[in-house]
Amino acid sequence: MAPIKRIGIITSGGDCGGLNAVIKGVAREAYALGIESVVIPNGYAGLYNLVELPEVVYLNAERVSRIEASLAGSEAGHSRVKISKIKDDKKYDRIKDGLKKFGIDALVISGGDDTGSVVVDLTSHGIPCIHVPKTMDLDLQPYSVGGDSSINRIAVFTRDLKTTGLSHNRVLVIEVFGRYVGHTALRGGVGAEADCILIPEIPVDFDVVYEHMKTTYFGRVMRSDVKAGTYIIVVAEGMKNANGEMLYDESAGVDAFGHKKLAGAGKFVRQQLEKRLKTDPQVAAFMKQSGMYAPGVYEIPEVREVTPGHLVRCGGSSAYDVNFGYKTGAAAVFLLISGKGGVTVVNVDGDRIYFEETSEAIKRREVDIHEISLYESLGTCFGRKVETYAYTFVEVKDKIVRHL
Ligand code: F6P
Repeated sequence: MAPIKRIGIITSGGDCGGLNAVIKGVAREAYALGIESVVIPNGYAGLYNLVELPEVVYLNAERVSRIEASLAGSEAGHSRVKISKIKDDKKYDRIKDGLKKFGIDALVISGGDDTGSVVVDLTSHGIPCIHVPKTMDLDLQPYSVGGDSSINRIAVFTRDLKTTGLSHNRVLVIEVFGRYVGHTALRGGVGAEADCILIPEIPVDFDVVYEHMKTTYFGRVMRSDVKAGTYIIVVAEGMKNANGEMLYDESAGVDAFGHKKLAGAGKFVRQQLEKRLKTDPQVAAFMKQSGMYAPGVYEIPEVREVTPGHLVRCGGSSAYDVNFGYKTGAAAVFLLISGKGGVTVVNVDGDRIYFEETSEAIKRREVDIHEISLYESLGTCFGRKVETYAYTFVEVKDKIVRHL
């Protein structure tokens, strides 16, 4: 294999924390090894159109220093374009022409499962590329850049919402991104000590949620000397009802990867709770005992949904994501120069760079629901009847893969 002289960097899918650290990790490691790196802007859309770009941005030391790793988003830009779906029979030739035009020998591509599937596709067309795992959804592998930043933001927003929830004695339902898995809702929700967390891995029984809400929230208000209380639910956008059906607003349409845009889980939860509050004879008694009852005006507690949307993946990157992004970006360069292609950086642990075939790495990782019953034993509701935590002890004797 001819030595790699220039690497193109692509970020693709949804943006999130830590991506700028990936870019800097690639650029700085490449520079240290005497390799140039350039930005291919706007994800795979940019790769497809590279041949028509008048110039690309070289990441020399000065340009790299102007990228702020602690900011979320990506200096390279994003799109949700799947190359195989582009209606152009000559698309792979066009991409190769673009790479040739700028002397780009190989690619480092950071993204999630859809992005990874394109890495597999490009590799099969003879384009050397390495995948750096990125997804706030955390559905790829034990860790991907972006997850920690989003979890922290979800936890902070949820915790902040408690002050307004408490002031108005409202039940608050916070719907968060995460697509078909509940990693961020779970970790962010636990981080904010939410009362109830609803994730796609557990079909929701709303009678269970309602009863937990009543016991927790009614009790909280009644015990308070100023009769104040709130109840916090964090719901993953991909939540399913008791029949295992996902609940989202059909009118939201699909994204460029062809996935349904998920929206509406929070609204559905609110409606389910309101329906029960309106028909429960104990509610009027609670409202009267707590001194809140106002006939015809305020007869049931208010339930509100809040949808932070893109706020959970913008703004700043956590220090953890900067660490993970830097080292996995650098590791991608070592994998490229060793002639590897079509693989995903799993982790860097000391002097070991762990990697896996990208076709394997992009298989969906769900929340391990064994852990849920532990949180249930601590009082959190997950929309199902509480299950006993079944555990086993494992004594660690060998060194295990660490992330930091
Ligand atoms: O995959 C990351 C993610 O943030 C999902 O959690 C969410 O469903 C989706 O992207 C939103 O995508 P977009 O930014 O294209 O609306």
